[in-house]
Amino acid sequence: TYEKAWLVAAMVLIVGFMATITYGAVGPGIAMIDDDGGTIDPAEINDHERFGEPGVEHVGDDEYEVAVVAQAWSYTPEQIEVPADSEVTFYVTSRDVTHSFSVVGTNVNTMVIPGQISEMTVRFDEPGEYGILCNEYCGEYHHTMEGKLNVV
Ligand code: CUA
Repeated sequence: TYEKAWLVAAMVLIVGFMATITYGAVGPGIAMIDDDGGTIDPAEINDHERFGEPGVEHVGDDEYEVAVVAQAWSYTPEQIEVPADSEVTFYVTSRDVTHSFSVVGTNVNTMVIPGQISEMTVRFDEPGEYGILCNEYCGEYHHTMEGKLNVV
């Protein structure tokens, strides 16, 4: 019947979504370990222990923390370098408007909202040069907002 066809269609959609989500979690070259966050007053970024001097910090055996400040229309730092197969936790916040922090070709793709800290822990298993892009429209030069991630 008509009703049954809709039910089947809905089931197919649900299975499709689940497959998409599963694929996303094991996407090429990266394992998403954790995704969490916190809050911050944008006015205090310069004095903040993590964001006052953004960049890469070696915090353990194979553990790195990367603090990134987004603002129209750039990331600080512009270039990030981390070793392959290490546990990398990104902390990203915005100084002004909503941006995103998206590493091309991986499933690192998070909104960056002023007042909030986007946090995610990932492991890059493939060395390479990855582009960092902003996927949230943030004004006239949104399209020029980019950075670079070197996995070595
Ligand atoms: Cu920042 Cu678009």
